Amino acid sequence: MAFLDKHKAIETHATLLMVLSLLVVAIGGIVQIVPLFYLQNTIEEVEGVRPYTPLELAGRQIYIREGCYGCHSQMIRPLRDEAERYGHYSLAAESMYDHPFQWGSKRTGPDLARVGGRYSDEWHQDHFENARSVVPESVMPPYGFLYNAVIDGKYIQDLVETNRMVGVPYSDEMVSASLADFKAQADPLGDSAGLEERYGEAAFGTPVNVRNFDGQDALTEMDALIAYIQVLGTMVDFSTYTPVANR
Ligand code: HEC
Repeated sequence: MAFLDKHKAIETHATLLMVLSLLVVAIGGIVQIVPLFYLQNTIEEVEGVRPYTPLELAGRQIYIREGCYGCHSQMIRPLRDEAERYGHYSLAAESMYDHPFQWGSKRTGPDLARVGGRYSDEWHQDHFENARSVVPESVMPPYGFLYNAVIDGKYIQDLVETNRMVGVPYSDEMVSASLADFKAQADPLGDSAGLEERYGEAAFGTPVNVRNFDGQDALTEMDALIAYIQVLGTMVDFSTYTPVANR
């Protein structure tokens, strides 16, 4: 057949085959890539998602430093068994302020995307100090030293500013009040009105946790890490959330 003869010409000429293959692949690539230039945003914004407070951000740095991602993921896949165990599958918007994101792919321990509010601060303290005291079969290493690691927030403003540089919408006020907000969140007897105003109910529709996370006077890495863990997955109210496709 004439058609097959023509095809034979392509298949027997290496250069022609290569040029035509490249052309086909290029068309496929363009079809996928070009629409992205015309989209305003690839992330659907969701109510309630706010930038981390300075203390949560500091806790997040500790999470990264300690390599918690080596055993824990933070992304609930849209599969039935995942959603039944961990809750609603993760939305892109929930990690849009995460630099770098902590989705992870290794699960020696459970996914942590929605662990916030599931346990008390005391549970986390005991668990970090000695996981086997609360979960006898646990293989999670101890992190009790975080208790004694006092933090003064010396670099907290730089951290907030760096996050702003990579796209997190911290306002000038949030940046300049970084240190005050950092301290206020772990001090329930202090003045946290400014922190609430910037990150809380009025601004984003979700309250900020203000309390002494580790129960001791000094502000420590334990406070910061627990503040971070307790906010994970709590920003979006899934009782009222409907995906765009279903609206
Ligand atoms: C060697 C692997 C390993 C590392 C590293 C690790 N974990 Fe775990 N983690 C586990 C395992 C296994 C469990 C499940 C048993 C348990 O609850 O202790 C767990 C459980 C947890 C839980 C309870 C989750 C739930 O839903 O019950 C939290 C919270 C947690 N880890 C936080 C952390 C944080 C924060 C770090 C870093 C400071 C960390 N883990 C580092 C293995 C690890």
